[in-house]
Amino acid sequence: MARVFSGIKPTGHLTLGNYLGAMRRWAEVDQHRADALFCVVDLHALTVEHDPARVRRLSRQAATLLLAAGLDPELCTVFVQSHVDEHARLSYLLECVATDGEMRRMIQYKEKAARERERGGSVRLSLLTYPVLMAADILAYGTDEVPVGDDQTQHVELARDLAVRFNQRYGHTFVVPRATPPGVAARVMNLQDPGAKMGKSEDTGPGIVYLLDEPDVVRKKVMRAVTDSGREVVYDRAGRPGVANLLEILAACTDGNPEDLSAVYDSYGALKKDTADAVIEVLRPVRVRHRELCADPAYVEGVLRVGAEKARAMARPVVDTAYRAIGLLPPV
Ligand code: TYM
Repeated sequence: MARVFSGIKPTGHLTLGNYLGAMRRWAEVDQHRADALFCVVDLHALTVEHDPARVRRLSRQAATLLLAAGLDPELCTVFVQSHVDEHARLSYLLECVATDGEMRRMIQYKEKAARERERGGSVRLSLLTYPVLMAADILAYGTDEVPVGDDQTQHVELARDLAVRFNQRYGHTFVVPRATPPGVAARVMNLQDPGAKMGKSEDTGPGIVYLLDEPDVVRKKVMRAVTDSGREVVYDRAGRPGVANLLEILAACTDGNPEDLSAVYDSYGALKKDTADAVIEVLRPVRVRHRELCADPAYVEGVLRVGAEKARAMARPVVDTAYRAIGLLPPV
C-alpha cells in the first residue's frame, strides 16, 4: 500500500482553497486507498512573525477541521508536527545536504521574504530553510505520494532532490516521493484578486472564503467576486481569470468540468448564485461536524495523542538510519 503524507500550516483560518485543493481529497480518496498521515505543521507556522497564543489556537482548530472534513483516525494518522521530534532531527541532517542556492530559488521564499521586507520586518532564517523542514516531514515517513495543491509542487520537487542526493552519497535511506496534485481546484484564486492564490495567511478579506464562514457570508463573498469585463461566460484562465475561478470552484464542488459548465450559463449573476449555493452545500457538513467536535475537545486530544505515537513509531527507524548513514556515532 502506498504511503501518503501531507500537511497543513496553522498560520490562519483554513480556506476553501485548502479544502478543495487538499483536505477533501485526503478524506474522500487518500485515507481509503493508502497508508496515510496528515499533519498540522505547527513548526512551519513559526517561520513568520507569530503570536504564540494564536498559533496554539489555530493548531487546535486545524486539527479539529481535519477531522470535521472527514479524516477518520481509524483509517489514517492525524497528528501535530511538534509532537514528533523526528521532524526537527531529520531537518538538520537535510540542511547538511541542501545548498543555500536551492533555498533562495524557492518561489514561496522569494514572495514571502519580499512581503516581510515590504512591511519593514526582518526575514527569519527558518523561512529560508522552511522547504528543508518540509522535506524532512515527507522523507521521515518513507512517503511515496504527497497530495498537495499546485503551490507546493516546487517544495516536493526539492524533497525528491534531497532524497536522491542523500541516497547517492550515503547509501539508500529514503523513498523518493512525488507530488500528486488534484485534477480541479489545484489553485483556487482570491475572489477579489483572481491573479493571486486564495491563501489563509494573507490579510483577511472579502476575497477569501473560510471554512467556518457563515452561509450568508459565503454568499456575499461569492456574489461580490470580481468578474471580467466581458459578458458571456467562457472558460479562459488567462483572459478571464475571475470567471474561470468561479467555474473551477463550481466544478470542484459539483464534480463537474469548468469547460462544460461554462456552456450552461448566460450571465455572471446566475453563475455566481449557483457557485455560492454549491460552496455553502459543500461546507455545511464540515461546519456541523466542527461544531460537534468543539463540544468534545477530549476526543480531539485523544486522536492527536494516538496519532503522534503512531507517527513517532514510523519515523524513528527511518531517521535513526539516516543518522547512522551520514556518519554520526550511535549513542552508547
Ligand atoms: P498550506 O498550509 O499553505 O496549505 C495546505 C494545503 O492546501 C493547499 N492549498 C491550496 N490548494 C488550492 N488552492 C489554494 N488556493 C490553496 N491554498 C492552499 C496547499 O497546496 C496544501 O496542499 N508547506 C505546506 C505545508 C506542509 C506540507 C508538508 C505539505 C509542510 N510540510 C509536507 C505536504 C507535505 C503549506 O504551507 O501548505
